[in-house]
Amino acid sequence: MKKALVCLLLAMLLASCGAPGPEEEHLIRVGFSQVGSESDWRIANTASMIAALSEANGYELLFDNAKQRQENQLLAIRNFIQQNVDYIVLAPITESGWDDVLQEAKSNGIPVIIVDRRIAVSDDSLYTSWVGSDFREEGELAISWLEAFLQQHSRAGESLRILHIQGTEGATAQIGRTAALEHAIRRHPEWEIIGVLPGEYTEAKSYELVRDFLKTEQDIDVIYSENDNMSFGAVRALEEAGIPCGGEGEIMVLSFDAVRRALEFCRDGKISLCVECNPLHGPRVAALLQQLENGSTPAKLTFVDELAFDREMLTDDMIRDREY
Ligand code: AHR
Repeated sequence: MKKALVCLLLAMLLASCGAPGPEEEHLIRVGFSQVGSESDWRIANTASMIAALSEANGYELLFDNAKQRQENQLLAIRNFIQQNVDYIVLAPITESGWDDVLQEAKSNGIPVIIVDRRIAVSDDSLYTSWVGSDFREEGELAISWLEAFLQQHSRAGESLRILHIQGTEGATAQIGRTAALEHAIRRHPEWEIIGVLPGEYTEAKSYELVRDFLKTEQDIDVIYSENDNMSFGAVRALEEAGIPCGGEGEIMVLSFDAVRRALEFCRDGKISLCVECNPLHGPRVAALLQQLENGSTPAKLTFVDELAFDREMLTDDMIRDREY
């Protein structure tokens, strides 16, 4: 009798070890496939997601860093499906190539939220909602600023030699920012793109490419750089070659993201314009998840409002208070 009681207690103890505790029981399980850690923007974005989808906020977050490779993202998503997460959040590296894996998520009843860049799928029901930036609009902000600057300095109509440093080919951020520049080139026959460098959003790649470019060509008016880290790499290459930027008649660097270090570069005259790209998507994604949890239907697309900063408008307080 005594032996039977001990066995029963042991069995109860073992069963309770495998079962979730009262807190774990209610955690919402989210698998997040992140592009990588290629830029200051991306690091701020990851931090924002991890903070918002914390256990204290009621989430169990399964995080995967794809190191800028789509095949790693596909693997991560399939892994999340196998683990039967409640939701998948995807920050896609490029727009194409998602149909099959998202069909698998849908067949398994797992809603997918897309964050930051967009996806191009044949069937929009493969994802529930997207939140991110209007990258084309960001590019238009940069072009409008440049046009206004040239106008103010009585340089409108002058020839302009532009070096274009591109982000990852096929990423929405690249597609939108490039489209704005190419559209401007069609309006301005006096503007010329003298080189397109595939900087992959990293400082190291951009530094190497610009350093090599400068060996044969230094007659540049504008560097249109599709993110801040590539701008940092370009500025370093210019400085090493002894080529000044930012001042009157010097190379103007137009940059995207507006992370704090870029604002400092702008204040110091090394970057002429910082177009904002806001990475703080964690609370926005959490709000979408909560809507789904409450049974409501979130907006299919949510665009974040963004600004642009040049040296004239930047203050030390703005730089100090920058959250990323
Ligand atoms: O998709 C957003 C872009 O990706 C940011 O401009 C860039 O810094 C990041 O790597």
